[in-house]
Amino acid sequence: MGWLSRLSDLFVKGLSENDHALVANYLDEPGRFLFYQMDLVDQQHTLKVARYLLREVAFRRGVDTERLIQAALLHDSGKVRGDMKKCHRVIVGFLRRFAPEIRKRLSRRDRSRPLRYACYVDLVHPKRGAYMALSLGIDPTVAELIQKHHAPLGANLSPEFHYLKIADEQV
Ligand SMILES: [Fe+2]
Ligand SMILES: [Fe+2]
Repeated sequence: MGWLSRLSDLFVKGLSENDHALVANYLDEPGRFLFYQMDLVDQQHTLKVARYLLREVAFRRGVDTERLIQAALLHDSGKVRGDMKKCHRVIVGFLRRFAPEIRKRLSRRDRSRPLRYACYVDLVHPKRGAYMALSLGIDPTVAELIQKHHAPLGANLSPEFHYLKIADEQV
């Protein structure tokens, strides 16, 4: 399901007025800058994650909805527009799920080798996104959620982390 949804994001033509309104409602200017510097594919995906959370989680007690939705909209901001070609996204997404060691081995910080660079970006995007968020003055709690969004689920983690991870895998 998540895999199919990610594939359909590759063909999105643009964001709707409602999409822009959602972004404007939850993100301040630095947040919007981070959001709009992502590729349209990632904007579409993060909007789906945010909508899933608004639908399934926001009504629950004890959840910091504001920060959760901010993190949802920004969690993949470490993937900057132009970092990955569409065909490489498909390959890298497959490797992340089914052969993470190969993705790691292929990963090179070398733009002249686009597939290897795409593996590198995919590998570092949580850390890179968190660094960018902190540099722009985004709430440290949101930056931490960005940084950990691919970390394994474990004990002593906040409900926001737990829900963000589930939503990211669902949509
Ligand atoms: Fe991610
Ligand atoms: Fe994601």
